[in-house]
Amino acid sequence: MTTTMRALAPAPDGRMQLVQVPIPSPGPGRIFVEVKVSAVNEMDVQVRAGGWGPQVKRFRKTGPVVTGFEFAGVARSDGARIKVGDRVIGYVHVLDGPRVHADFACVAEADMQVIPPDLNDEDAAALVVMGLTAIEILERLKRLSVGQRCLVIGAAGGVGAYAVQLARSQGASVGAVCSSANAGWVESLGATEIRPYESEPRYRPGDRFDLVIDCPAKFSFREAAPCLAKDGMYVTTNPLADAAGFARAALTSRKAGYLMMLTTTPAKLSRLVELHGQGALRPVIDGVFDMEDADAAFDRFETRGKQGRVLLKISS
Ligand SMILES: NC(=O)c1ccc[n+]([C@@H]2O[C@H](COP(=O)([O-])OP(=O)(O)OC[C@H]3O[C@@H](n4cnc5c(N)ncnc54)[C@H](OP(=O)(O)O)[C@@H]3O)[C@@H](O)[C@H]2O)c1
Repeated sequence: MTTTMRALAPAPDGRMQLVQVPIPSPGPGRIFVEVKVSAVNEMDVQVRAGGWGPQVKRFRKTGPVVTGFEFAGVARSDGARIKVGDRVIGYVHVLDGPRVHADFACVAEADMQVIPPDLNDEDAAALVVMGLTAIEILERLKRLSVGQRCLVIGAAGGVGAYAVQLARSQGASVGAVCSSANAGWVESLGATEIRPYESEPRYRPGDRFDLVIDCPAKFSFREAAPCLAKDGMYVTTNPLADAAGFARAALTSRKAGYLMMLTTTPAKLSRLVELHGQGALRPVIDGVFDMEDADAAFDRFETRGKQGRVLLKISS
């Protein structure tokens, strides 16, 4: 019987390598999952570059795999709720450690949900973290209503492409900051106005947005504030980078929304699937790479001009 599996590991030369590691076995509360498709995200490429040293050391104590948070796959063990053979999606708790860039992973049952037959593995994997992030922003931090105005900066990326769709489905008009090359694609997602970042400023005199979403987290509440409506909100994907903004926002009627999505729940994953079923969240896939081409996938993630998510096909 095979006791090892394929997994990705960061090599000392700053690239990813395919290695054989022991197949993990599930402890209490965990499901043994055959991973079908995963996605690449920011923390994965930072780990490849040698980042997150102390955390990576800690993650290695629970298994050798140190990249991959989100996945679509098939349950190969029974839990209280999930049964063998169920097709599932999941988002591994960030503090529990990435682990799904491998043929198999043991994932907390609380971090996954069953998906319907009409949602294929690639679409499902493409939705997970960035779809959940868009929901967190637009259903928990600031739900929009018909006629309100939203500006999504970085609208062609993973978070941005889902945020545009969700804001539009709530009836808001959606301004989008993206490259001119991606303007048509972002419009097809529902953006009502495009501001190409090469040729136009993000903000215009007279702007009054109910919500500004800064996906690349390169800007600030201070810059956004004059263009926010009275009860408007600025949300950055890296609130730790704009601590001054939170202090400043506390002194005005304008808000800075704190986004920090370290984990998920079955209910949140169900909501993601529900919104997909309603047509409010269409999966956005820039490219799908074989596990053997992980470096190309990671490189693509770091390339400007993407349209949505970069996926890794783990098994066929
Ligand atoms: N706080 C949380 O809980 C949370 C949750 C999820 C994600 N995140 C973070 O959110 C960030 C975005 O993730 P993602 O997967 O959406 O990344 P992504 O797919 O790389 O998207 C980033 C987008 O920002 C755009 N961009 C970069 N520089 C820009 C600039 N100067 N002006 C305008 N747009 C610019 C990019 O456009 P071009 O490609 O055209 O340059 C791209 O469309 C990551 O840092 C991730 O770690 C945080």
